[in-house]
Amino acid sequence: MRKIKTLDLPSIEKGRIRSKCVNTFLYSYEASDQLFDELRNKHYFIRTYGCQANIRDEETLAGFLNNLNMVRVENENEADIAILNTCAVRENAEDKVYGEIGEFKNLKAKNKNLILCICGCMVEQPHVVDFLLEKFDYIDIFFGTHNIQDFIKLLDIYIQDRSTRIVDISSKSGDIYENLPVKRLSEFKAFVNITYGCDKFCTYCIVPYTRGKERSRDIQDILNECQKLKDDGYQEVTLLGQNVDSYGKDLDSGIDFAHLLEEVAKLGIPRVRFLTSYPSDFKDNVIDVIAKYDNIMKYLHLPVQSGSNSVLKKMGRRYTREQYLALVDKIRAKIPNMAFSTDIIVGFPNESYEEFLETADLASKVDYTSAFTFIYSPRKGTPAARLVDNVDYETKNKRFKELVSVLEKDVSKNAENMVGKVYPVLVEGLSKKNKDILSGTAYNMKTIHFKGDLSLVGKIVNIKVIESHTYSLIGELVDE
Ligand code: SAH
Ligand code: SF4
Ligand code: F3S
Repeated sequence: MRKIKTLDLPSIEKGRIRSKCVNTFLYSYEASDQLFDELRNKHYFIRTYGCQANIRDEETLAGFLNNLNMVRVENENEADIAILNTCAVRENAEDKVYGEIGEFKNLKAKNKNLILCICGCMVEQPHVVDFLLEKFDYIDIFFGTHNIQDFIKLLDIYIQDRSTRIVDISSKSGDIYENLPVKRLSEFKAFVNITYGCDKFCTYCIVPYTRGKERSRDIQDILNECQKLKDDGYQEVTLLGQNVDSYGKDLDSGIDFAHLLEEVAKLGIPRVRFLTSYPSDFKDNVIDVIAKYDNIMKYLHLPVQSGSNSVLKKMGRRYTREQYLALVDKIRAKIPNMAFSTDIIVGFPNESYEEFLETADLASKVDYTSAFTFIYSPRKGTPAARLVDNVDYETKNKRFKELVSVLEKDVSKNAENMVGKVYPVLVEGLSKKNKDILSGTAYNMKTIHFKGDLSLVGKIVNIKVIESHTYSLIGELVDE
């Protein structure tokens, strides 16, 4: 076994703690000359799993490595540094990572100098770190979601003695780091963090433990980042938080999400989005701001999780189905063309068929434009994982399919309703399936495929929808 240098280790107990104190720091670490010399022009590879928060973290890691004059590669076989940026939200997210780590064994055998790093939400869980340390001797550096600012320092330590593995995973989450480098994945759309962490502690969810306490960035730091994006020609900004409606609760300034959203919209970025909204925290003043600004997309991702009051209660979600439906109605009354999407979990421990049917019923009442559905996955350390569950996986899977077919009816119908109409579309790139076709995103996050020149990528163009499928649409360019 290789030696291990442990700087910090995660703890579910510490991850649960919520203190008042938030400190903002300016990042200032300078890499050693030796690190520059060893890594200059070398290749790095990053694979990210999970949500937008992780994607934004990847951009910070890429920023660090670009500053060392390293070059990004998309093929892990060419890597000198490989980073697996992991997600812990469901078991299948973790299984993918375990599979991938296995594959790195050969790469490490071929390239002895490869530095294999693992970070992200998975390693914020003590049992995962124990397992990884024991099973995969060839992982060199472990760092957590609260240690991302230390990545270069850890590389500096590692290159002093490559026989020693480094573990630095903290569960302390009161800090915000500004001034971190960033290399964006896109030149025309960007994620901007507004809050980190989550204090909701839904009983099934690991995120509050892996991402720590909820903390808001200073409004000026957010606006500066957005202004820079606008100056650089970005067409779309998505404000990120596990619960954006909590923005500002921990600040003394009295600024809330509606105020922040309005200030961002006023910068004049062509498209502004935000993610994710929590139903009972969603305030009326946010509806007014969305209605007032054309550049705020009329699309709301509003996870419901369940349509049964008894299940919502056991999940620790702080609203009822009636309140959720009333909120949807209230928003539609002010913004009739608002498109809704949601997240739903099927098979929370002991969920009965009747309770499941209430979810299916709510799903058909809301008329979603899109929906993300998941089968419940027990997460070690969460309250729900301690419940004895008397519903087997096969039953859950059957219900899951039943829900998907209910949702697909509205999803298809809403797609069909777009046929014949013209939509501004942000052109994202070549279609994955057909290389002669471009694909872009409409205000409601629907993907539209159309014929067009590659030079349109990154621009907003008008597309007339001519054909609809459940999950995508076909359109044609309309002359201005
Ligand atoms: N903060 C966001 C979402 C975070 S995780 C929110 O509250 O809406 C993204 C989605 O994963 C959740 O909305 C939920 O539907 C799903 N999810 C979280 N934990 C899960 C678990 N243990 N099993 C299955 N799905 C889960
Ligand atoms: Fe998880 Fe609930 Fe927080 Fe969303 S609001 S991240 S589901 S605990
Ligand atoms: Fe996954 Fe962590 Fe995001 S658990 S969903 S990467 S916050």
